Amino acid sequence: MTSHRRAGWTRRSVAARAAALGTAALGTAVLGAASCRSALAAQGSGLASHAARTGRLFGTAVRSPDLTYNAGTRDEVLREASLLVPEYEMKWEILAKSPGSYDFGGGDRLAAFAERHGLDLRGHTLVWHLALPSWLPRQLDAREAKRLMEEHVTAVASHYAGRVQSWDVVNEAIDPQASDGMRTSLWMQALGPDYIPLAFAAAARADPKAKLYYNDYDLECDTPDQDVRRAKTLEILTKLRRDGVPIHGLGIQGHLQAGRWPYDAGKFARFLRAVSALDLDILITEMDVSDRLLPAPEAERDATVAGLAGDVLRTFLAEPRATGVLTWGLSDRQTWLNDLPTHRRTDNLPQRALPLDRNGRPKPLWTAMAQAFDAATPMR
Ligand code: XIL
Repeated sequence: MTSHRRAGWTRRSVAARAAALGTAALGTAVLGAASCRSALAAQGSGLASHAARTGRLFGTAVRSPDLTYNAGTRDEVLREASLLVPEYEMKWEILAKSPGSYDFGGGDRLAAFAERHGLDLRGHTLVWHLALPSWLPRQLDAREAKRLMEEHVTAVASHYAGRVQSWDVVNEAIDPQASDGMRTSLWMQALGPDYIPLAFAAAARADPKAKLYYNDYDLECDTPDQDVRRAKTLEILTKLRRDGVPIHGLGIQGHLQAGRWPYDAGKFARFLRAVSALDLDILITEMDVSDRLLPAPEAERDATVAGLAGDVLRTFLAEPRATGVLTWGLSDRQTWLNDLPTHRRTDNLPQRALPLDRNGRPKPLWTAMAQAFDAATPMR
């Protein structure tokens, strides 16, 4: 999903979406008091039950307003998922409207919902080049950058300590076009690549029990750029492990694009094995399948989307250190892929990128995911 980065969608899009979804209006609203079905999601008939057959997780990104005001979404989540990750409630832009002043309300409502229904909760994301608060200077010297980054990681990771099972500590540090393979983010410019171990060390101090992940995108398919991304990812992970930095896993975002790039199962499998050889877990953290390049007929789109996802997940779930799959939303109602000109279809038809259709009914993508989970290699 490189195009939206080039398109430079900015913190405004995060805040705008949050406002549009009425986060502020949430006030003291309590998330819906749906029945406690989801604690049984892994024993039910949803995707979490298919994942659980080999001890794996299935989860989804959610927005707290959807869980509060949309009974359909609440029911879909409770039926399908055993883990939640906030689409935006734990991003710096949303948490800290002014320096040192945090509003954890949205994330706390998600945590309360997860705890009430026996769901795991995942944190996303502590250090990123996007969704930064408007008050944060975009140029910092090393001392200020280290202080502000460590204070933020400490404030957020300690607030959620004991409630979040894992964190995307650093998100999207790689730029395959850069000579050193590193994105020239605010953090990279101020601190160099050492911002990554500094972020992980701060997160580990704040929450010694959470599993800490490096998270990035475009790691699945067979292109020269993605070859560079995979090599740079392994270089980063190898150094972190060699230096004894507290890291537990790699997050592969899984924003797939049907009809865009070739897929080479052997190449992806070798990458997964190399990550596993570093004694790291691997999680698909944000899966969806863009159909923007496919012809309009829905049945054709659904089949192609399901085919690509099935191929990638069969490879992924053959890896014993693959711990689970999270989608970036459950129903096509929720996908972010309709939000940006660089993602939405040129015919403006709504994307069919997620396991459930706009009415919450399973699509061929749901079936492909369930079958991939059922055929998965047992975890190690
Ligand atoms: C996206 C959200 O889905 C959008 O609603 C928001 O406007 C921008 O951020 N990779 C990530 C996620 O790590 O945080 C991004 O989420 C999607 C790409």
